Amino acid sequence: MTQDELKQAVARAAIEYVPSGEIIGVGTGSTANFFIDELGKIKDRVKGAVASSEATAERLRSHGIPVLDLNEVESMSVYIDGADEITATGAMIKGGGAALTREKIVASVARQFICIADGSKLVDVLGNFPLPVEVIPMAQAAVARRLKALGGEPRLRMKDGKPLLTDNGCMIIDLHGLKIADPTQLEAEINNIVGVVTVGLFAQRGADVALLGTADGVKKLTF
Ligand code: A5P
Repeated sequence: MTQDELKQAVARAAIEYVPSGEIIGVGTGSTANFFIDELGKIKDRVKGAVASSEATAERLRSHGIPVLDLNEVESMSVYIDGADEITATGAMIKGGGAALTREKIVASVARQFICIADGSKLVDVLGNFPLPVEVIPMAQAAVARRLKALGGEPRLRMKDGKPLLTDNGCMIIDLHGLKIADPTQLEAEINNIVGVVTVGLFAQRGADVALLGTADGVKKLTF
């Protein structure tokens, strides 16, 4: 199976977690896109969705799924999203698609985080995938120095020759070369750096369920 077929398989499996008549949270990225396409097929089951990025909002609308402002939503049963890396305890690196802040916000309002990913995302130790950190633009150099002191190699994410700007008008520093032994502690430490908006470590609030696409079928992990 190709990686895309594995992503499609977990996107289909995630439909089982979509409650009837409710609002759900929807993530960002290629796996989340496959999920949105599946959701489009049963769109009358949900009242609407809260999107974790402008790209996701646009795709949801293209399927005729109502997109709600998070400020109008008190709680959600589920948030469904991909990951760049996930451990066997449900800690994740996210933000490869630059949507980490809104992803973390929407996930924080949901009772369950359902992670959907192809099996290659399951790792023993987080950090092979560069850790995204969203920063306030005027603080990017200062934050990069602090991140370097943690032992990694910070690189400002670029797009078309300019620093990439997130949906929030902020920048992303990708921290390369870390081996993250204690994700919860590092999440707190980086969040505490002045100028950091969000770190793409989802450990304090990790996944509750992971659906991982493998050649032998969809493997389910619960945390
Ligand atoms: C988006 O900012 C990310 O957190 C994605 O969830 C993550 O990068 C996984 O993306 P893919 O589903 O495209 O692998």
